[in-house]
Amino acid sequence: MINVLFVCLGNICRSPTAEGVFSALVEKEGLSQSIRIDSAGTGAWHTGSPPDDRAQAAAKARGYDLSLQRARKIIDTDFHIFHYIVAMDRKNYTDLLHIAPPEMRSKIQLFLTFAPNLSVAEVPDPYYGGPDGFARVLDLIESASRGLLRDIRRQHLDNNKEN
Ligand code: 4NP
Repeated sequence: MINVLFVCLGNICRSPTAEGVFSALVEKEGLSQSIRIDSAGTGAWHTGSPPDDRAQAAAKARGYDLSLQRARKIIDTDFHIFHYIVAMDRKNYTDLLHIAPPEMRSKIQLFLTFAPNLSVAEVPDPYYGGPDGFARVLDLIESASRGLLRDIRRQHLDNNKEN
């Protein structure tokens, strides 16, 4: 089992969207038994809340259901359990590097490095913007999700078949 944790600031907009999009892709590819997916925030303000209504609506328009997710803050155990700890923006990335046990730092990756053809490096925080921001978040997340799944297959799943 490969464990993937998506991380943003509040765990109510970007990382729940990534959890929903990546889960749907993994399910479509028949890999739900091999990849476990969760999300968390570096902040605790929204602990226990469902994803932001705007994030849910934008996701629903593309067929993703985020309604059962609840926000939580990342905890130390996460750094040990998850193989991929995927940050939405550079601030999330550097915050994670600071709180991670040093030997776990290599698990932390910036999400859009899995979509090198995009001209941007970060999934921008849509919280204080309009609905366009949420659609843009979905575009970026859909692209990077395909790249992340390719990486997991290459690094873990395909190799396992050969062994
Ligand atoms: P997220 O968006 O990190 O994508 O979940 C935010 C949600 C809430 C806040 C900031 C960003 N906030 O300041 O409460």
